[in-house]
Amino acid sequence: MKIQLAESYGFCFGVKRAIKIAEENRNSSTYGPLIHNANEIDRLKNDFNVALSENLDTFKAGEIAVIRTHGIPKQELSLLQERKVNVVDATCPYVTKPQQICEEMSAQGYDIIIFGDESHPEIKGVKSYAVGNVFVINSPVEVDDLHTREKVAVVAQTTRKIEEYQEIVSRLMASHKEVRVFNTICNATFDNQDAVRKLAQQADVMIVIGGKNSSNTKQLHSISQEFCPDSYHIESQEDLQADWFKGKNFCGISAGASTPDWIIDDVIAKINALTNS
Ligand code: F3S
Repeated sequence: MKIQLAESYGFCFGVKRAIKIAEENRNSSTYGPLIHNANEIDRLKNDFNVALSENLDTFKAGEIAVIRTHGIPKQELSLLQERKVNVVDATCPYVTKPQQICEEMSAQGYDIIIFGDESHPEIKGVKSYAVGNVFVINSPVEVDDLHTREKVAVVAQTTRKIEEYQEIVSRLMASHKEVRVFNTICNATFDNQDAVRKLAQQADVMIVIGGKNSSNTKQLHSISQEFCPDSYHIESQEDLQADWFKGKNFCGISAGASTPDWIIDDVIAKINALTNS
């Protein structure tokens, strides 16, 4: 079995940065999961005593709260600051950007449209920065049901597909006088997506590694499936099944932006063991 990694995969700049910040703040707690990867969160707990708290009220004055890569709603940030919690911000700068755009453009009188998943923490955070009307849509067809004013500003969740975003923008152009477009899709997502697209065209089985909740891993898996129907989304080597590799010669591997290298190495070792036995 030939095993090949995509040209670009795994940890992005924002996640590497957040992990470094957490490691530098031993004995602290993150407010919400720092990244979408349970294994890495366990490692931070075991090796650096960085705990995880989902409850804002657990943070007391003087304690450190590390803010996760996806950011948090503005109101929660203000509450932590009011309570004199020591806030250490590990929000990815590519997430801070759409938060700022939302705040500035809505202050200038634009209705804000966010292309993303309303239940995702990143979008909850970005949305909270709007000071006026804000609408979240999850697909281009939803543009037709929007009731906005004539001036709109539009941002996208960092992990979204550019093609869908372009379609949203062209639909908005057809129905609005002024459309301010901000390309807030993250380059790390592009790089990993381009690489998985290329590799899935050559491989006869694809393994995409990442948390089940990780939306960028789900995107990679969906792109992979377009080109290689035998594409599997797994969290770790434990999810691998020997059947997947029967009669296959070329296994491609990609991993989401929150997947550490040691999990990828374990997966490769297990595939080797399954296919050589
Ligand atoms: Fe940031 Fe992009 Fe990673 S938004 S957390 S660098 S995938």
